[in-house]
Amino acid sequence: MRKPIIAANWKMHKTVKEALDFVEKFKALVVKNNEVDIILCVPYTVLASVAQSLSGSTVNLGAQNMYHQDKGAFTGEIAPAMLLEFETRYVIIGHSERREIFGETDELIREKVNKALQLGITPILCVGETSEEREGGFTEAKCRKQVESALKGLDKSLAAQIIIAYEPIWAIGTGKTASSNDAEETIAYIRRLVAGIFDETTAQTIRIQYGGSVKSDNIKELMTKPNIDGALVGGASLDAESFAKIVNFKE
Ligand code: PGA
Repeated sequence: MRKPIIAANWKMHKTVKEALDFVEKFKALVVKNNEVDIILCVPYTVLASVAQSLSGSTVNLGAQNMYHQDKGAFTGEIAPAMLLEFETRYVIIGHSERREIFGETDELIREKVNKALQLGITPILCVGETSEEREGGFTEAKCRKQVESALKGLDKSLAAQIIIAYEPIWAIGTGKTASSNDAEETIAYIRRLVAGIFDETTAQTIRIQYGGSVKSDNIKELMTKPNIDGALVGGASLDAESFAKIVNFKE
């Protein structure tokens, strides 16, 4: 049985004060159980304060990006060791906004996934198609290219730790969610891809999330699907009550 994993992606939102207000409210609202892994992927500037505020709670800390080098002349970038200073155990890699707005390539994303795994930070690798690709029937081809490129050549013993987030780009921030059947179908396909790259055991171990306009009113239905292991949540994760309802979906 794979444990569900639900992650907030705050994107470029929240000052320290706003982040701390959220965490205080959120901690009180989260059902005290160990049935769902909960991650807050926050901006770098609030990592230190959020880490402190989360200490002793079951909520985990994540970042939204990192560079794949240890240190050096990379102005504006953040090294994995800098994330680890704040017990940041998860990092989103290859979000479609990083790929589209900041020109991140499949090769760069592979380097980042590799580096994160080597240092014990769990990468949340994002893949997904545009609306044109979906309409043209290229959803699987696009996911295949992104998954294969990011995972090929990875050490199998590390691969099982990866989280994959299937996020159709047309569903991000648009209010349009993939139907639970469509999301299940593509996620099942991604799992078969992983089995082809590594083996069936790895494919059955890896957790694959759905992302794209997840809200408290669609999470339950998504989570009934056998291959959907959780969600990566943008807009609906910015409000403590709304995100708490999502992570408490079993209640
Ligand atoms: P959304 O974003 O929930 O606002 O659609 C999801 C994401 O970009 O990870």
